Amino acid sequence: MYILGLTTLGDSAAAIIKDGEIIAAAEEERFTRKKHQSGFPFLAVQYCLDEAGITIADVEHIGLYWKPWVLRHKAMQAVKAALISPSMFKARADRGVTGVGSSYLGMFKYPSLIRERFGKSDFKFHYLDHHQTHAASAFFVSPFETAAILTWDGTGEDTTTLFCKGAGNKIEVLKRIKLPHSLGQFYSAVTNYIGFDMFTGDEWKVMGLAAYGKPEYYDFLSKRVLTTDGNGGFKLNIRVLDHHLAKHYQFSDEVSRELGGPRVKGEELTERHWNIAASAQRVLEATAIHLVKQIKEMTGEENLCMAGGVAFNSVMNGRIFHETPFKRFYVQPAAGDAGCSLGATLLIWHQKLDNPRKFVMNHSYWGPKFSNEECQAALNEAGLKYETLPDEILLPKLAKMISEGAIIGWFQGRMEWGPRALGARSFVADPRRADLREALNHKVKLREWFRPLAPSMLEEEGFKVFGVEHHDPFMITVIEVAEDYKKKIPAVVHVDGTARPQMVNKEVNPRYWNLINEFKKLTGIPMLLNTSFNIQEPIVCTPQDAINTFKNANFDALVLENNLVLRSV
Ligand SMILES: [Fe+2]
Repeated sequence: MYILGLTTLGDSAAAIIKDGEIIAAAEEERFTRKKHQSGFPFLAVQYCLDEAGITIADVEHIGLYWKPWVLRHKAMQAVKAALISPSMFKARADRGVTGVGSSYLGMFKYPSLIRERFGKSDFKFHYLDHHQTHAASAFFVSPFETAAILTWDGTGEDTTTLFCKGAGNKIEVLKRIKLPHSLGQFYSAVTNYIGFDMFTGDEWKVMGLAAYGKPEYYDFLSKRVLTTDGNGGFKLNIRVLDHHLAKHYQFSDEVSRELGGPRVKGEELTERHWNIAASAQRVLEATAIHLVKQIKEMTGEENLCMAGGVAFNSVMNGRIFHETPFKRFYVQPAAGDAGCSLGATLLIWHQKLDNPRKFVMNHSYWGPKFSNEECQAALNEAGLKYETLPDEILLPKLAKMISEGAIIGWFQGRMEWGPRALGARSFVADPRRADLREALNHKVKLREWFRPLAPSMLEEEGFKVFGVEHHDPFMITVIEVAEDYKKKIPAVVHVDGTARPQMVNKEVNPRYWNLINEFKKLTGIPMLLNTSFNIQEPIVCTPQDAINTFKNANFDALVLENNLVLRSV
């Protein structure tokens, strides 16, 4: 039985499962080449069908990540935002929010839209609760028979935080926190206050900047803006933040008096901004730990699954993993809204159709792949000279180049699902060289100096590098690096002595593991610096995308499967 899942308004995506196992999953942005593409995911759906080798007529169920009739609050926000802020409206239009099938009301027409575009089919269409699709996206593919599940984001239909308990093939909802109380919107408002673009990925920047600051506004923010309550919940003070009116996510004068006023985009980032970021980050972490302790009390579970955009806050995750009583954790690589498309399929298969679980997601490689021949055809077409080498020659050669300072665009296998590059579409470089952080951020990726870079490492070497057992295949946790290791790998250690590692398993991604291992043989260091293979656009998907990036950027070599292209000087 084939089940298709859809995310459509913001980070659009599609996923397809067959008898409960994932066949394919991908974000629409990778195909349209527009970051955070919104609107109906026509290309991602077509990719899922192609990968499964079927047509829409073979799909029995389709699940949507949203119940459009629970739309009052959200729709009012969108309408007001469009009326009040032309710039916000334009930003939404650019991402396709105003395209085909791109309104909450438009969701009612999806079944006919799908038949119109993809052909005749008598699938059953399900409108699903947003946060329950988040919860399903994590728990049902986790290795746990039972777990507490916490999902948190900007907002779903009206829920912003969901407490659940998962057991076998069922998820039970225990508690909801609704608008206007939202951790995601609090963080977005801070993102906006520091002069970054909220909702489009700049939330990462606040977390990156936070490492440089001191939390000197913590007391104020935790008393006047985001407060915890005695019931294991939290409140966002709507008197000091206008997000519930959907104006501009601006803080009130009271907040500005305390914090010294918002930063205008482009203005210099000063220590005050670092301190605001650090304070907001700390308040988020404290609130999150408060909620996690509450769900521990409610469920008595030892396993915790998390999803929703807030679950990408890897610094927060690090504190949750080490400071709360849960023993084991699982966060699926597409923890944000894109992942809800997968959650929708699983919610139907398990919760509605009562099928047992048998599948665990231990990697993120669910996107398109391209053969050596397809890569060669693209290189020929582009007029690039290349050498085709077997792995026994190619991998040691690359390791040597990396150890001598080369930055390499590494493209192999199926594309990652979720926003992290995990060794299928990655830039790789030498983690020992501090200068490479700047080279990568400035010269290659054309982004801010404070963006942290992370290591991909041999899973079995984790204890040596961190001093504790740490298994995170999806790069969603920040952890302190062992003292004696910090100075060995300065390019991937943050200013506060932490790192966000990807643990690479030999069985799961043998080729990437072997590349890292070749580097270890040469240098004794069991890791590579890894950052996503993209420059100001979505992560590359096809060989053509990778070639375009190579042609327009400043890195040393491109590897498309077994084909090596050196930049001629
Ligand atoms: Fe969400």
